[in-house]
Amino acid sequence: MARMVTQLLILARTDTSATMTREPLLVVDIVDEVCRKAQPADGKLNLECRELDLVEDAVVLGNADYLEQLFLILLENAFKYTPAGGKVEVIGALNEDTVAITVADTGIGIAESDLSRVFDRFYRAENARFRSGMGLGLSIAQSIAEHHGGKITLESTVGQGSRFTVVVPLLNKEDRVGVRSEREQAHAAKKKDLIGHM
Ligand SMILES: Nc1ncnc2c1ncn2[C@@H]1O[C@H](COP(=O)(O)OP(=O)(O)OP(=O)(O)O)[C@@H](O)[C@H]1O
Ligand SMILES: [Mg+2]
Repeated sequence: MARMVTQLLILARTDTSATMTREPLLVVDIVDEVCRKAQPADGKLNLECRELDLVEDAVVLGNADYLEQLFLILLENAFKYTPAGGKVEVIGALNEDTVAITVADTGIGIAESDLSRVFDRFYRAENARFRSGMGLGLSIAQSIAEHHGGKITLESTVGQGSRFTVVVPLLNKEDRVGVRSEREQAHAAKKKDLIGHM
């Protein structure tokens, strides 16, 4: 019950957006924190956070508390809907204008007809009948992503697993391009050097 009240309060706050102040922050700091906090309780699942070095320079205009909440909601679901022995992964990726963090599981999966509805408030799919919950987590997660100018995409196959990807616009696109071109320059110089020795 206490949890439901908290969720409703979060939902009410994300509805008004008045309290969601945002500042430039490193996404990887939040994801690292979440990976540290969110170890599966019973040790029957394996959590792996990987390719986070790809997003280590990614800066977004964000609210750290809300973004943390978003990733915790996705991880809580991944743990809840993945049977013992399964695997949950958090994977970073960088696109031209966005940073993408995927939470993937090898769990029960979601039927195609439910894919668009699981983000609705209080909606729980047929697959959730053996687990308790309010059907609020994903609606809150989606609302937080939208308040960051982002979105959550979902791919899932029944019996195989689900992949939720949070996509948020980058704030430091120019900086990153600068960093990349420096790396590319270094790489090109090294290559030239190698060829010179052949
Ligand atoms: N990783 C997942 N694998 C399979 N089904 C999922 C997964 N995440 C969400 N779902 C489905 O989407 C529904 C909505 O998820 P949501 O997090 O909003 O609610 P909940 O987990 O049922 O309850 P709450 O999060 O409020 O405790 C779930 O009831 C379940 O049917
Ligand atoms: Mg949930």
